[in-house]
Amino acid sequence: MRISDKAAARLKELGAAVRPGVSMSEQTSLGIGGTTDEILLARYDTIPQVMRLLADEHIPHRFLGGGTNVLIADGELPWVMLHLPAARPGWRIEGHAAYVDASADLGGMVTFCAKHDLGGMEGLIGVPGSVGGALRMNAGAYGTQIGPHVKEVELYRAATGEIETLRGSDIRFDYRHTSFAPDDVMLRVKLELPSKPFKEILAGIKVCNEKRRASQPLNQKSAGCIFKNPPGGSAGRMIDELGLKGHRVGDAMVSDRHANFFVNAGHASCSDMLKLIDDVRGRVRAANGIELENEVIVWRN
Ligand code: EPU
Repeated sequence: MRISDKAAARLKELGAAVRPGVSMSEQTSLGIGGTTDEILLARYDTIPQVMRLLADEHIPHRFLGGGTNVLIADGELPWVMLHLPAARPGWRIEGHAAYVDASADLGGMVTFCAKHDLGGMEGLIGVPGSVGGALRMNAGAYGTQIGPHVKEVELYRAATGEIETLRGSDIRFDYRHTSFAPDDVMLRVKLELPSKPFKEILAGIKVCNEKRRASQPLNQKSAGCIFKNPPGGSAGRMIDELGLKGHRVGDAMVSDRHANFFVNAGHASCSDMLKLIDDVRGRVRAANGIELENEVIVWRN
């Protein structure tokens, strides 16, 4: 989708920059996605004005975080992509509280907190992506989830057109699911973290890194796990037991390292990846009677 010169000029007045014709294959860890114009926001407090402008101009839009858990359609996209202001560095500590921008890097935040002897998030160290994406999905690994540490979230509520602050206790954090509205935009979070000596946190981080290196295809293009684990089960094990490691549609391939990671082994399209997802889901349904639910977020045209 192309932004008109008139809309671009109004966006510039709000400090936002427009980058025309950007391929989402460069913005996502899967290396898949079509082309659209991007808007880079300058300040959080201009978001309500920018959103009103986009509504006035009838410009559909989506916010992209780290791009590490999303599968985006091929071709010219019918929406523009918005980016929050870059976090520089995007975090500060006060006692047991960490105040973090949604655009900050999740792993960087875990390390920063560790250096201030604040722990509890060791398991999240190797989860790629932004803090905002982690909040929305309630990212988790190795027994850690971000949700229980959340004290407050500042967000843009599309429903009211305002920036609001929610208490952590008013937000539901479930397995890879939260009670945020789909069009809420995470802006900042206040986390409360337990004290732990840096050395101890570092030891925990090392263990998680080693486990991840041993079981996941970290050097290949992926969006992490494609399916959620069904209650009491493991999607990866089920797919593996069907002998599907290495199974492919075009360049979209079931990782030969971890069967719930689907990788872009070359120049996979979104269409290839969707066909592979449907094919594997169907085979698991036929063999196990279980309908696997996507963990990856899919943005279709
Ligand atoms: N397994 C296989 N074959 C495989 C993959 C796994 O037999 O190809 C078996 C493993 O041996 C193990 C079991 O399945 O007994 C579970 O595997 P693993 O420990 O790798 O964890 P997972 O349930 O597949 C989950 C999260 C990961 C997270 C890890 C570590 C989901 C969908 N996935 O994977 O998160 O990193 O635990 O905590 O919940 C993600 O969210 O994108 C993600 C990768």
